[in-house]
Amino acid sequence: MPARRRLIAVPLTFAALLAPPAASAQFGSDGLGDEYFPLAGNGGYDAEHYILRLDYDPATDVLDGHVTVRATATEALSRFNLDFRGFDILALEVDDAPAAMLRDGQELMITPQRPLAAGDVFEVNVKYSGVPEVIVDPDNSIEGWIPTDDGAFVVNEPQGSPGWFPANDNPRDKATFDFRVTVPRGKVALANGVLKSSRTVGAHTTWRWNQDEPMAPYLTTATNGDFETSFTTLEDGLPLYLAVDRPERTGANFTRIPQAIELFSETYGAYPFSAAGGIADNAGFVGYALETQTKANYANEPGSSTVVHEVAHEWFGNAVTPVVWRDIWLNEGFARWSEWWFTEANGGTPAATAFRTSYNSRSATSSFWRRPPADLGGPEFMFANQAYDRGGMTLQALRETIGEADFFALLKTWYAENKYGNVTTADFIATAERVSGDELSAFFDAWLFGTTRPPLPGA
Ligand code: TRP
Ligand code: ZN
Repeated sequence: MPARRRLIAVPLTFAALLAPPAASAQFGSDGLGDEYFPLAGNGGYDAEHYILRLDYDPATDVLDGHVTVRATATEALSRFNLDFRGFDILALEVDDAPAAMLRDGQELMITPQRPLAAGDVFEVNVKYSGVPEVIVDPDNSIEGWIPTDDGAFVVNEPQGSPGWFPANDNPRDKATFDFRVTVPRGKVALANGVLKSSRTVGAHTTWRWNQDEPMAPYLTTATNGDFETSFTTLEDGLPLYLAVDRPERTGANFTRIPQAIELFSETYGAYPFSAAGGIADNAGFVGYALETQTKANYANEPGSSTVVHEVAHEWFGNAVTPVVWRDIWLNEGFARWSEWWFTEANGGTPAATAFRTSYNSRSATSSFWRRPPADLGGPEFMFANQAYDRGGMTLQALRETIGEADFFALLKTWYAENKYGNVTTADFIATAERVSGDELSAFFDAWLFGTTRPPLPGA
């Protein structure tokens, strides 16, 4: 979409809007300083809860939305922003009073009739309609509300959410979510958390889902279409929601989900969320899977290690989330190492061997070693294999350096101390040093920030 700036007349006078800001004007910032995505998220408030009422017609691709965001102002605000792209905005209210808006790219600037004071809890209501625009990332991958032959595949890492709902789209502003997704009768809409109800009235079915634990906006989903579902509970009562787009997908490897949950609960700590699951869609053109919270989305038939990888993200990525996108290795390196650990713990190839295989597949002069996992060099490299493989290698090398007891204690501590929160690479280094009692700066400099191949542990 071309950048556009629109002014919509509402009961505030144009004069008030266009006048230079009064000395008392307090504008929330349009971003949170993320180096890769400077406009992701907004300053001045904390989102607490979203209600997403979505009505989608796959025949026309038109999405009608009514979104409520409840938030707390963290500073005085005469204006604040949400991230939102495209659509016609049909109504905008703050605390039940019409508000004025300006739009510029992903920034929806909202001027409430009455300024907010620091500490105020307020509610924004946005009603909108339109055909969502698919977001293209700096690495040319696509995300957002992606139409399929029978519905939509909905994934957002790192910046797809504003393509289908107004959000404070930054991983550090987690919130709880209610979803009411209406689709044509017979189709299934899958969102995060637990299913509250599915009601059919006439030609439409509304699927209500609730995500009661904190969730970063990029982890939301509302994938919909023709799915065969299996909604069951595991032995301990955890609801397991599986959905497969037949006949193309079988979801055969979804048997890994309970196995991975069991192992990682033991290794890392109790599963963080009130639901689990997986969605195997027929959207191969998207080309990747995403760890959407509680139910990962798979564009293709998921392989066994991909399922294990996405389940691991419930701990690392979803419950424990980076503050900034540059630290994406904290997601992908942990998920990669978790694949190796799952194989080892089930009697297969030890992680030490998987590590060496990965290490040895890149010669010392390979350009692979020039891109460090904790400083990938830009948003176009977020999903480069350095985040995954060098990230995973870093953890296995750490295991072999600090020893089994300290390493597994570190993983448990890292999870327990940061569950539902946000973390940085510096936090991880500090936690590793505290738990092990070792000075590890040379180790992490080489493995996380080095631009040459680090020596193998013990070499
Ligand atoms: N985080 C996803 C995973 O590891 C991968 C992913 C998300 C991705 N968005 C992407 C990969 C874009 C390539 C391009 O499972
Ligand atoms: Zn991953």
